[in-house]
Amino acid sequence: MSNILCIGAGYVGGPTMAMISKYCPEHTVTVVDINQERIDSWNSDDLPIYEPGLLEVVQQTRGRNLFFHTDIAGAITDADIIFVSVNTPTKMFGEGAGKAADLQYWEKTARDILQNCSKPEVIVVEKSTLPVRTAEAMARILESGHSSTKFSVVSNPEFLAEGTAIEDLANPDRVLIGGEENENGRKAAETVAELYAHWVPRDRLLLTSVWSSELSKLVANAMLAQRISSVNSISALCERTEADITEVSRAIGMDTRIGAKFLQASIGFGGSCFRKDILHLSYLCEYYGLPEVADYWASVVRINEWQTERFFQNILQQLFNTLAGKTITLLGFAFKQNTGDTRDSPAIPLCEKLVGENARVRIHDPKALENARVDLKHLNADISFVEDVYEAVEGAHALALVTQWAEYRELDYERIFKVMAEPAFIFDGRNHLDHAKLFEIGFNVFPLGKTPFKHI
Ligand code: UDX
Ligand code: ADP
Repeated sequence: MSNILCIGAGYVGGPTMAMISKYCPEHTVTVVDINQERIDSWNSDDLPIYEPGLLEVVQQTRGRNLFFHTDIAGAITDADIIFVSVNTPTKMFGEGAGKAADLQYWEKTARDILQNCSKPEVIVVEKSTLPVRTAEAMARILESGHSSTKFSVVSNPEFLAEGTAIEDLANPDRVLIGGEENENGRKAAETVAELYAHWVPRDRLLLTSVWSSELSKLVANAMLAQRISSVNSISALCERTEADITEVSRAIGMDTRIGAKFLQASIGFGGSCFRKDILHLSYLCEYYGLPEVADYWASVVRINEWQTERFFQNILQQLFNTLAGKTITLLGFAFKQNTGDTRDSPAIPLCEKLVGENARVRIHDPKALENARVDLKHLNADISFVEDVYEAVEGAHALALVTQWAEYRELDYERIFKVMAEPAFIFDGRNHLDHAKLFEIGFNVFPLGKTPFKHI
């Protein structure tokens, strides 16, 4: 029986601890955060993040062996295993600005641990996405004090994707556990593996060195993102050559060496990981004197930004090169479906570009409106956030589909066509809708990587 603690009650810490508490009922799992409001939400049925299936798991275990509170020091004192899942955004100042990770929250946590721990042996598990070699830095901070506690630092990177976090945690392709290469380190890695072994088959628990584990996380995300940028680059070529990106993706995905996943053309990938991790990877390569490798990976981000720009340019061009005073309605703002998360969503630069042309922007999203408001508060422009989708499209000149929420496929587009300005345009940034049907209704339809359907 151990006291498991997680510092940071966000998208990673919350769902992961909910699942560990579910499958390891003999252990006590505590989640702490500096943000009282967040903790209050975790203690209610209005959880701070939207994740299908999460509430059911939390309701099952909360108060039994899962607890949320803000007494960080007290919780550290009792802890045997501490997961660190605080946020590590991209640093926006000083050395490495815009590329390196901002480790201030993470370092504060390391110091909190050092100051408050009391058990003779404590395992610290890195869960936040961190640049390579931070485990080593964590170990150095922990060893710098005169604590009688013996620390082991284990890297256990997160692979869950938002919107499917519970499913990903329940049935992971693999769980990566990186331990220090000495007896103590191996023992600590084994203790963490033991937790997951409650529900994950042993052959999916991958024990590696700390550095391999940290680097694998960055590379996995970089390679997933690279697939999307590759397909997005080809979507532009399809539009020039009358090839169809859906057919091309399908054809290449059926090659088992390539595989079918992550080949969907889009307005651009978003989310808290891809951009940040590629920038970390690129920064790391630069740091180690590999500018060509750094540039290779940085180009994945450049293509991603270009794809969003291309989407915007197409709107501008099709709407007769002027958006001033025109209403553009965004269908969706979250970076993907089934989440309210908007971190790095392509909707943000899209809105900036639209209001730069003096367009009026209306935003609909079933889960992300609150975050959208915060993301756009720096823009002094005509932007509205509308809960009812039919109200959001009224009088609009164009719809821009950003997020592939299932409900957008079910809308009554005949009704929508009647209330929009004519000629009515749909720009489908996810190839999510039935384009031929929309064309029949009367829309001018602009998919990605396909021939557009135009009445004009
Ligand atoms: C990602 C990784 O998948 C996960 O393993 C890691 O732990 C965290 O980062 P996440 O960002 O939550 O997860 O979502 P993901 O499903 O990977 O999608 C990322 C972005 O890529 C989204 O904006 C999504 O819409 C986009 N995407 C995905 C595409 O544009 N095309 C695709 O084919 C797949
Ligand atoms: P992720 O997607 O990595 O889970 P989030 O931003 O959703 O990132 O969650 C990180 C959480 O960590 C936030 O709720 C934040 O308040 C919390 N946090 C940041 N710094 C500290 C700290 N020093 N102690 C405790 N919690 C922290």
